[in-house]
Amino acid sequence: TKGAAMVTAVASRVQAQRKQIDKVLALFQLTREQLEGVQDKMRVELDYGLKRDTHPLATVKMLPTYVRGMPDGTAQVGRLWVCSVLVSPLPPNARTQGPARYMLVDAAPTFSTTEKGKFLALDLGGTNFRVLLVKIRSGWRSVRIYNKIFAIPLEIMQGTGEELFDHIVQCIADFLDYMGLKGAQLPLGFTFSFPCRQASIDKGTLIEWTKGFKATDCEGEDVVDMLREAIKRRNEFDLDIVAVVNDTVGTMMTCGYEDPNCEVGLIAGTGSNMCYMEEMRNIELVEGDEGKMCINTEWGGFGDNGCIDDIRTQYDKEVDEGSLNPGKQRYEKMTSGMYLGEIVRQILIDLTKQGLLFRGQISERLRTRGIFETKFLSQIESDRLALLQVRRILQQLGLDSTCEDSIVVKEVCGAVSRRAAQLYGAGLAAIVEKRREDQGLEHLKITVGVDGTLYKLHPQ
Ligand code: GLC
Repeated sequence: TKGAAMVTAVASRVQAQRKQIDKVLALFQLTREQLEGVQDKMRVELDYGLKRDTHPLATVKMLPTYVRGMPDGTAQVGRLWVCSVLVSPLPPNARTQGPARYMLVDAAPTFSTTEKGKFLALDLGGTNFRVLLVKIRSGWRSVRIYNKIFAIPLEIMQGTGEELFDHIVQCIADFLDYMGLKGAQLPLGFTFSFPCRQASIDKGTLIEWTKGFKATDCEGEDVVDMLREAIKRRNEFDLDIVAVVNDTVGTMMTCGYEDPNCEVGLIAGTGSNMCYMEEMRNIELVEGDEGKMCINTEWGGFGDNGCIDDIRTQYDKEVDEGSLNPGKQRYEKMTSGMYLGEIVRQILIDLTKQGLLFRGQISERLRTRGIFETKFLSQIESDRLALLQVRRILQQLGLDSTCEDSIVVKEVCGAVSRRAAQLYGAGLAAIVEKRREDQGLEHLKITVGVDGTLYKLHPQ
């Protein structure tokens, strides 16, 4: 009887613990009503951002990009575009070297006469900094893409603007050298994945840094000018910067090359953002009513006025407070790769404090910001992974776990990613519904181009 009593006691303790864990997980389970609420609120913010009067205070910035129409090879008459994008799929005839993530060069009819069909592209703002060279021979018939990934050390990301741009130019120099193009004169497209106020396709004033960047003396400055000046300082090559685009825009354009229905670009990566084609008549900030222009929504800032505080948890607030930009990019912090692991870590700390994990011991490792990178989340959530392997991953992170612990950790990761996916869905629903209504359609057929490390690496 003594033994039986002990078993019952253990069983009821396990039950009580389960209840406590479920209570935490439940905070991440949004109901359909809550998600529709997110959709409705997003819709309100999109409209605020587009209107001249409300634009200055809008949390979803709705930035005009000066990208009009889609790159079908004929639309951009008289203008050469070079935009680095993460292509999937590549133009059918493109041959690549290195990992297949890329760049689309779209060109107006003037294209064949330009610089022997060699173009440079930069991609700054995601997980990697990349420099690309695209060689095109006689139109799209032969496209070759070469690229190199460079690290941007933390002290450069958070140093001075001059150091950051000098570093970028140093990387370009290394790449040109490596490609045997030292001192070359080439057109360059700049994918710069931060909010920029643009007055044309080749100008972009950085509004504010997001994600892991915090270099000084850049906010309020034109990033194209900063790049030009750094190139001048080095005085080794001459590059003609022809375009600056957000990564969402690059993604939409790339996808649009294959699918004319693609009018939305979505990034689920280090950051979270979306762009889409809007009717010119709805864009009060830009003169003219004809045709369409791509709007970079910068939806990562959704919720910065507190409008989704009802669904934010204490863990979201802790992540926000510990970030480089507290109070900002609240939606991004609930959805993107840079933060999901941090949310997981905050939950694990809390569960451990409650004695529900890791034998109640909060290790130094668990206290360390940034230990849970997106790739760990992706690994842990992979269905093919046995629990033993989850344990091994946790061990690699210096977290000594039992088998039960690994089950809980996996559940936590799942709850956090699932909520992120649903929030992306709610946000997308807002834009797609808006497009449908604006066109007076019963049924809208639209394609969303998607890219980003989270999207690419996450198993679900
Ligand atoms: C951040 C940036 C945005 C970018 C996104 C994805 O939200 O502010 O410009 O598109 O990250 O990289």
